[in-house]
Amino acid sequence: MNSKELRNKFLKYFEERGHKIVPSSSLIPKDSTVLLTTAGMQQFVPYLSGDHDALKELGSLHLASAQKCFRAVDIDEVGDDTHHTFFEMLGNWSIGVNDKGEYFKEGAIKFALGFFVDELGLDKEELHITIFKGDKDIPKDEEAKRIWLENGISEDKIQEMGMEDNFWGPTAQTGPCGPSSEIYYNGVEIWNLVFMEYNKKVNGSFEKLAQTNIDTGIGFERLLSLLNGVDSAYETDLFKSVIEKIESKDIKTSRIIADHIRGACFLIADGIIPSNTEKGYILRRILRRAIRFGKSVDLIDVAKVVINEYKDIYPELENNNILDVIREEQEKFGKTLENGLKQFEKLDKITGDDAFNLYQSYGFPFELTQELAEEKGIDVDENAFKNAFEKHQELSRKGMEQKFKGGLADTSEQTTKYHTATHLLLSALREVLDKDVSQKGSNITAERIRFDFNHDAKLTEEEVKRIEDLVNERIKDDLEVKFEEMPLDQARSDGAVGVFGEKYGDVVKVYTINSFSKEICGGPHVKRTSELGHFKITKQKSPGAGIRRIRAILE
Ligand code: SER
Repeated sequence: MNSKELRNKFLKYFEERGHKIVPSSSLIPKDSTVLLTTAGMQQFVPYLSGDHDALKELGSLHLASAQKCFRAVDIDEVGDDTHHTFFEMLGNWSIGVNDKGEYFKEGAIKFALGFFVDELGLDKEELHITIFKGDKDIPKDEEAKRIWLENGISEDKIQEMGMEDNFWGPTAQTGPCGPSSEIYYNGVEIWNLVFMEYNKKVNGSFEKLAQTNIDTGIGFERLLSLLNGVDSAYETDLFKSVIEKIESKDIKTSRIIADHIRGACFLIADGIIPSNTEKGYILRRILRRAIRFGKSVDLIDVAKVVINEYKDIYPELENNNILDVIREEQEKFGKTLENGLKQFEKLDKITGDDAFNLYQSYGFPFELTQELAEEKGIDVDENAFKNAFEKHQELSRKGMEQKFKGGLADTSEQTTKYHTATHLLLSALREVLDKDVSQKGSNITAERIRFDFNHDAKLTEEEVKRIEDLVNERIKDDLEVKFEEMPLDQARSDGAVGVFGEKYGDVVKVYTINSFSKEICGGPHVKRTSELGHFKITKQKSPGAGIRRIRAILE
């Protein structure tokens, strides 16, 4: 089944069952607290939260869409089988104004089974289901479990999972959210059914929503791959001609270029242009990354293929200056890229000034320098870059605030938070797992922490939860983050942890967070732990024997 057929089949299935088909909203969300659209439900937040006037205009309580989404957090995963920056999400919604015939858990589960099994012919025996197992604030979802059982899913196919996996939302700090039930096929998560029963408040607590809603989302690219019996959407019609056009022998390189040019076309079509802040910076990052990977590739031709593939579904791709924007960025960056790379090759360590020079003189987004450094096995510190940036700009305080209002400031504020969260994480790992756990590597971007440490086994769900809870408790405790300068020997004898393989000067900074954490570190850090928000571990894997790698975010 090709992509057009699948998209149509989904929308038709729900249209025939009383749903209004709503066009995808822009990748620029109306709600300015969120940078880009990352889920199908975003355009429906007012209805899901109970704005009934808005609903009148819409004229239906049952909705379905194919939504354009963009997740910058996945940029450095792109190239594997399943990650994309831009992707589409298929979804259906029931807005629970109550007693108007809208459906809730039973309806959503029946529709999902109907579409997967009856319509697409997936083998029901192969479906695996997860449900929410409950948490201190929110009870186990017995109802969902009962409904799955009543609908022919056997008990051994239903797994209970915690907050981490089976509770969805909100997309912003507050808003509608709820327990979810996920459908897996061949071990891959395909459809997420969210039972929106709660509203998350500013203080992090939950209250019951006045209405119960259904919000579902299917990863379109994943379902398409599954139906075509391939491992990756890059092998489906969505990407086939794009990948052919790239003609790279290296699969990962082709995928990165294909993903980034597709993402860039859609961002530009929605009115984003490359810049050094916020949305524009994300666009610049993926474009410059595509330019770097695609030095001998005609990216304009690749973009033409993308536009051609999608223009019938998303006509905004045609009515735009996409090619000009890409061309211009290519001209700006292409000229300096080679010289920048030469400059980079000369360095065997990268100071903040070096990173700044690559940014200022050669147009390297900081993340590109970071990525090149990682390939070469050397470190580069984002805070050193930021300091160099401030120094070189010689801006007045006010000018500086203006300048940093968008991307770079957000980026560095966020990474400062992540630095502090990393200290809490290490202490929590030592407390929950083993006091001999130490840091084996760490990489922080504005979007996430990546942290390597010595440990032999996969962390259990229980351990993950205890680590998260411990970090979140320390955040809630609103502890002061202090530092003191002292000789290295004293820091060591005081029990400060640190990566001792590194060279420290004679006098080091030791950051303490209450009695919980004491680390040798250059900083900077936040002043109080309460600035961090909510800590969540998103992934774990083993990059090598005896080492675990965790990814975590603050939300
Ligand atoms: N909001 C949920 C998700 O993004 C279901 O649509 O997964």
